[in-house]
Amino acid sequence: MLQSGQTSLATKKSLEKQLADARLEIAALQKELYNREEQVRELIRDTLDAQEAERERICLEVHDGVTQTLASAFHYLQTLETGSLESTNTRQLLLRASALVKQAIQESREVINSLQPATLRDLGLVATLRQEVRHMEQETRWKIDFKADAIRLPQDVETGLYRIIHEAITNVRKHADTKHLRIRITSVDDQVNVEVRDWGIGFDYNPQDVSRRQSTGLLSMRKRAELLQGTCDIQSTTGQGTVVRIRMPFSRLKEQNG
Ligand SMILES: Nc1ncnc2c1ncn2[C@@H]1O[C@H](COP(=O)(O)OP(=O)(O)OP(=O)(O)O)[C@@H](O)[C@H]1O
Ligand SMILES: [Mg+2]
Repeated sequence: MLQSGQTSLATKKSLEKQLADARLEIAALQKELYNREEQVRELIRDTLDAQEAERERICLEVHDGVTQTLASAFHYLQTLETGSLESTNTRQLLLRASALVKQAIQESREVINSLQPATLRDLGLVATLRQEVRHMEQETRWKIDFKADAIRLPQDVETGLYRIIHEAITNVRKHADTKHLRIRITSVDDQVNVEVRDWGIGFDYNPQDVSRRQSTGLLSMRKRAELLQGTCDIQSTTGQGTVVRIRMPFSRLKEQNG
């Protein structure tokens, strides 16, 4: 009798322990769920912020570039309208206006290209970057060390990687003060690895400090990689340069392909 009483007490204690453990587990799961929801909210906020920043950039580019150029061309054409067509200036004004219209066409092509390079969809990430690197070498007279495996990835991955690499290269041009740049794209085992390295002035990088207001570029690089289930690590040493490493898991690419 005593024994069966002890047994039922032990069972009760064991059940109570199981219940307490289950409660703890539920609380932990609820906390994790809350954290994930918070992460999703943050991601949405960042995406909207990035969209706004991109809109601002496009407005500024169109306003300062093609609109100004067309306004100058219009000014020359107006001068022609009011002046005598036989005037000796006529040819000069026409030539200037035509040169400006040509420049405006080029500028609008550049804006369009910055939104979505036409080659990205057709030729893919590697060919597009190779073309851009060549173009940049001609423009800047830098010698860029570019090596990439001949890979094609799903469209969203190529677009995401393109944006991240493009931002990394733009940062080198804008901030690094060097002509020494190396880009590597390799596909090893189950992931694509990208490295953009410069030997410029470097900077004091702290991922925690990257607030949205100061650093849209670096933040969007990391967020884009995360959206594609990858990572984007940035390491920089003042006076020694910067390296951006992107890792994109391959399983996701297979999933998407398959
Ligand atoms: N490769 C680099 N070499 C040296 N400094 C860099 C490099 N990349 C980034 N930085 C520094 O980090 C800062 C933040 O970079 P980030 O790309 O976030 O912003 P940004 O280039 O100034 O503006 P944007 O939002 O247009 O990209 C830069 O202002 C610059 O000081
Ligand atoms: Mg930048």
